[in-house]
Amino acid sequence: MASVTRAVFGELPSGGGTVEKFQLQSDLLRVDIISWGCTITALEVKDRQGRASDVVLGFAELEGYLQKQPYFGAVIGRVANRIAKGTFKVDGKEYHLAINKEPNSLHGGVRGFDKVLWTPWVLSNGVQFSRVSPDGEEGYPGELKVWVTYTLDGGELVVNYRAQASQATPVNLTNHSYFNLAGQGSPNIYGHEVTIEADTYLPVDETLIPIGEVAPVQGTAFDLRKPVELGKHLQDFQLNGFDHNFCLKGSKEKHFCARVHHAASGRVLEVYTTQPGVQFYTGNFLDGTLKGKNGAVYPKHSGFCLETQNWPDAVNQFCFQHGIIWRTHRILL
Ligand code: GLA
Repeated sequence: MASVTRAVFGELPSGGGTVEKFQLQSDLLRVDIISWGCTITALEVKDRQGRASDVVLGFAELEGYLQKQPYFGAVIGRVANRIAKGTFKVDGKEYHLAINKEPNSLHGGVRGFDKVLWTPWVLSNGVQFSRVSPDGEEGYPGELKVWVTYTLDGGELVVNYRAQASQATPVNLTNHSYFNLAGQGSPNIYGHEVTIEADTYLPVDETLIPIGEVAPVQGTAFDLRKPVELGKHLQDFQLNGFDHNFCLKGSKEKHFCARVHHAASGRVLEVYTTQPGVQFYTGNFLDGTLKGKNGAVYPKHSGFCLETQNWPDAVNQFCFQHGIIWRTHRILL
């Protein structure tokens, strides 16, 4: 069983409303979630010696979340990840979104679901947030009703997403928590062992849009089917980090996605999902300039995200929508 408590987290400027914090507590986990962006602001879990640490990056105060920052802990929508050139067609009509990460649209646009106040509803073991995204919001077609529910049961935090559209519109919701199982504020994630249950991944162009190929991980740096130690792995393959979609093997039923083990603390994160993909992102754009909780600064590679979702740019990539496994063979001339 979990208990739920409710408190004020802060006031939005210019009478924008009150942001509340919901604390879910079980015998194994404590999680804080605020009504601004349905954001997870803290996740406390014990190490093998029984010492509790907060394992997600974030800010102590509301002001931190209102500044320009890389989606710490938030729910992302309407469409997580990138839409090429911010353009897509639905039912023959072309739509144009703001280009907020040149030359593409990223994470729902200028004011995505992470930057709005949601309406909370307390549950016996969690909290449900809802909102109506109006027709045309951020350039997307149709009105969209959205519900995001967090529930806690022992060591399992479940995030459930539901959306109802008044007309055809792309929707791809995820949570953008940055984890560091050594405790947030630890300088890097190199000592973490990562496993991702994917035989294929999506190679991307220089703007991080998938090039349309579903490539086998076999024999590449993307083969994470057996645990790899992140620091050594990045070094061995001379990688700047991961920011890629891994194509999951499971069906539409809940299936295993990834496991991250931090041997020094004994903490383990396991991720399960009903989605066909996961964006594994190693905090490559973090640069140490943000002031985080407890005086933490967040340098490059100081947190990782496992964003379960549909494949990026699916609205523009026919074969991604229909689950066709497409392998292009590059011919070198
Ligand atoms: C996602 C993207 C990254 C980056 C972060 C936010 O994980 O894939 O490229 O934009 O969000 O900084």
